[in-house]
Amino acid sequence: MLTFEGFLRFTTTRNLIFNYFHTQTKPSLYINGLHYSLYLCKMDSRNGETPKTTEDARNAIMELVNLITVPMSVISVIRLNVADSIWQNGSNTPLTASQILSRSFPSGSSGDPENLQRILRLLTSYGVFNEHIDDASERRYSLTDIGKLLVTDEKGLSFGLYFLQHHQEELMKAWPLMHEVVLDSSTEPFVKANGGETAYGMYQKRPEMNELMLRAMSGVGAHFMTSVLEGYDGFDGVERLVDVGGSAGDSLKMILAKYPNIKEGVNFDLPDVVAKAPQIEGVTHVGGDMLEFIPKGDAIFMKWILVIWTDDEVKKILSNCFNAIPVGGKLIVCEPVLPCHSDDSNRTRALLEADIFCMTIYRAKGKHRTEEDICKLGKLVGFKSFRAIYNDSLYTLLEFKK
Ligand SMILES: C[S@@+](CC[C@H](N)C(=O)[O-])C[C@H]1O[C@@H](n2cnc3c(N)ncnc32)[C@H](O)[C@@H]1O
Repeated sequence: MLTFEGFLRFTTTRNLIFNYFHTQTKPSLYINGLHYSLYLCKMDSRNGETPKTTEDARNAIMELVNLITVPMSVISVIRLNVADSIWQNGSNTPLTASQILSRSFPSGSSGDPENLQRILRLLTSYGVFNEHIDDASERRYSLTDIGKLLVTDEKGLSFGLYFLQHHQEELMKAWPLMHEVVLDSSTEPFVKANGGETAYGMYQKRPEMNELMLRAMSGVGAHFMTSVLEGYDGFDGVERLVDVGGSAGDSLKMILAKYPNIKEGVNFDLPDVVAKAPQIEGVTHVGGDMLEFIPKGDAIFMKWILVIWTDDEVKKILSNCFNAIPVGGKLIVCEPVLPCHSDDSNRTRALLEADIFCMTIYRAKGKHRTEEDICKLGKLVGFKSFRAIYNDSLYTLLEFKK
């Protein structure tokens, strides 16, 4: 049996520790040497390194071929209300597919439980459900921590809305044209697929799309804002704060609750978006285009904004921010920041996938950026100092001072 030290040395020479930190696998996998090497084999093929065997490579490519079944299965369970049916006020009791269907559709037909079970099995393998098999080989399903994010909260929100927003028919039409953005980056696949209309242009014209976008942002925003704000004191001393692209005003509401020194919050977004935003105490909703103008404040906050704009547009937006704050004022940018290396962690994959989503749907040359990229753009428009704060696992705070 290996000593702990010997084990660590062994794993380090084989680059296994490197895999561990970047893949966030469970440490328990390291206890057993056999499991360890099996896992290495799996990670090798996922890391883009040479797979251990041709069989692994064949399995890996067969997984890629049908990867579309994963988000489509999630969409199906959202439409079938599966997470809420299992959750039932937190009981999370494992249920068979037919029990789930009878809870989801109490007065309707019982549907086809076998087909639902096929979907649940796939999503079990992606960590959305736990599968429980009894002595009679009957399968029951409960929610994992990932599955719980699909449960509707008391405000009617969940991550499910963000899934639905991303998979609307008009957005789905863009994907078969994705490769064209490599050959010609002057137009977005979304625009080509939708008769010349941009995504945000369409959201503004179609109230149901505008509403879904607002609710989708509310459904995911608060989850991240809590950790973003933890341990950050950059809003101290600010009296008037502007949130650029603030959507329904959820971020501003959380910031104002934590910082009573902020007397006035301005939620700035497109006119049709703020027209639908709810009243929030201490917050004024202002409609406009951030490329044209940004309302004045002691400090400016913006979350999840720069990813949809080109470098020139980002410079314009940052410059409008610069002009809207006094000398010594702050711009606090909260963005999903790309790591330098392309690894196979959930975080990196989520960021790289979102980057491709933005390229296909919003702006062919809008993009996710590294900390260094964003710092450079801020300095170019005149900001004097910069610091980055990594409080949350997905979003980074990038603080510029004028
Ligand atoms: C990805 S969402 C982020 C929303 C919010 N900050 C959050 O983190 O949940 C981008 C926001 O930018 C707004 N937006 C897009 N183009 C804009 C423009 N030209 N001027 C002002 N707001 C814009 C959208 O309406 C949307 O609310």
